[in-house]
Amino acid sequence: MRDRFDIVLACDLAGGIGKDNALPWKLSTDLKYFRDLTTSTPVPNVLNAVVMGRKTWESLPPAARPLKGRINVVITRNPDYVMPEGHFAVDSLDAALDLLVQGPVDRVFVIGGAQIFDEALKHERLGFLYLTEIRAHFDCDTYLPDYRPFLQLMSCSEVMHENDIDFVFKVYQLNVPDYFDPQYLNLNT
Ligand SMILES: NC(=O)c1ccc[n+]([C@@H]2O[C@H](COP(=O)([O-])OP(=O)(O)OC[C@H]3O[C@@H](n4cnc5c(N)ncnc54)[C@H](OP(=O)(O)O)[C@@H]3O)[C@@H](O)[C@H]2O)c1
Repeated sequence: MRDRFDIVLACDLAGGIGKDNALPWKLSTDLKYFRDLTTSTPVPNVLNAVVMGRKTWESLPPAARPLKGRINVVITRNPDYVMPEGHFAVDSLDAALDLLVQGPVDRVFVIGGAQIFDEALKHERLGFLYLTEIRAHFDCDTYLPDYRPFLQLMSCSEVMHENDIDFVFKVYQLNVPDYFDPQYLNLNT
């Protein structure tokens, strides 16, 4: 497993990410980007892992979970939570990283939702943030914390268009002072 994990998310212009435990938009281009990014590995027979909160796991259509070709790890406070064989439930992001370091895993992607992004965006082992920036406002009930001051934009795609929605794929990298101080990452203050 690599030293750092990455985050993949899509949000609208107000930082909205969800509504009624579902995605507020339908963008097949973004779903394909997500699938290709989180599934592909350079090494045959080594999988990536996706780490998510219990609500995000339960928001996936039953036929789509576990997300295939990836080890699915769900974060929950319920010690009895049952996952399909080969997939795991743990009680924290650190527990997920500790578990995955033991296996033949290449990349680890944290894929939501807001409660898990909140912790992951402050984590000292965050590598890249793959952000689909949706250039519209949707009716949302779940939002990201403010994170941009701590991230440096590395790349941005051309503007894409689907279902009357403009969006871009951006890649950010954590950008903090050399004298790393976790207080700088307290994004809620
Ligand atoms: N736009 C995007 O990129 C994107 C991506 C993913 C999800 N979403 C959306 O986001 C929404 C879901 O997000 P959410 O914030 O409501 O839920 P979530 O983060 O997916 O899951 C929350 C659950 O995770 C567990 N959890 C959270 N913090 C924990 C901790 N510190 N220790 C142990 N367990 C912990 C708890 O599970 P238990 O209650 O079982 O203990 C909690 O109820 C949905 O609308 C979904 O569609 C959007």
